[in-house]
Amino acid sequence: MSTPTPEETAPYGSGPATPDRPAAPVKRVRTHHLREMKERGERFSMLTAYEQYAAQTFDEAGIEVLLVGDSASNNVFGNETSLPVTVDELIPLTRAVSRSVRRALVVGDLPFGSYQASPEQAYLTAARFMKEGGAHCVKLEGGVEMVPQIEKLTRGGIPVMAHIGFTPQSEHALGGYRVQGRGDTADRVLTDAHAVQDAGAFAVVMEMVPGDVAGQVTKELTIPTIGIGAGADCDGQVLVWQDAFGLRTGKMARFVKQYADLHATLLQAARDYDADVKAGTFPGPEHTF
Ligand code: KIV
Repeated sequence: MSTPTPEETAPYGSGPATPDRPAAPVKRVRTHHLREMKERGERFSMLTAYEQYAAQTFDEAGIEVLLVGDSASNNVFGNETSLPVTVDELIPLTRAVSRSVRRALVVGDLPFGSYQASPEQAYLTAARFMKEGGAHCVKLEGGVEMVPQIEKLTRGGIPVMAHIGFTPQSEHALGGYRVQGRGDTADRVLTDAHAVQDAGAFAVVMEMVPGDVAGQVTKELTIPTIGIGAGADCDGQVLVWQDAFGLRTGKMARFVKQYADLHATLLQAARDYDADVKAGTFPGPEHTF
């Protein structure tokens, strides 16, 4: 047996350095680290990212997981829902993010219609995200009905993050944006959560699920849960970055907390630039050769 390198034995975690606990060297977040964090009762964070500078910044901030979400459909490509985005559109974004991070686990999100037809279709699509996009794992939406797909991918060496509760790709089948798992339907969320864990998923996103139901799932599962509109008891949380940091304006879901107002900052900067150009004060002598 070979001796582990210091990198392999370094304590994992994003906590601050102390005299007794020096900062861990940059070490790639792996799927098993998330499970170990759950076992230690530590939370982790996940954000979407679709390009180089946001990805680098979130990686530098210590965000453990970056999701190149099919929400790029609305947040990059200008569509109204996540349905129209294609594999060919998402793979270059995934490649940009995976090339730009040193530490974060990069999740490629399988878009609508690219995996539901069969486990074979799912494998071929997921393999493209890994080979061409450089993703470290993939995410797909669905519970019990996705068991054959999750088994096929995990047996074939592709780690899977599942996504249950409200699944935006099924918006039309679910009758719109609605909390899932209220009252009698809580059992459905629990059944889906156990099914994806048993099929081999390494983590599960729960979207728009009552906090008590998400808390119960989190207690029952050994794999980490990641909440978006699923209360405070999940092992991790995820938000779409343009929502969380205020680049997108307009109506926001109740579960979004806004940490910055990037729209206002960018708008002012663009107006200042425009005014300088029109007044002839940019470029100045310091910008001129
Ligand atoms: O695509 C996405 O942004 C997502 C998150 C909402 C979890 O699936």
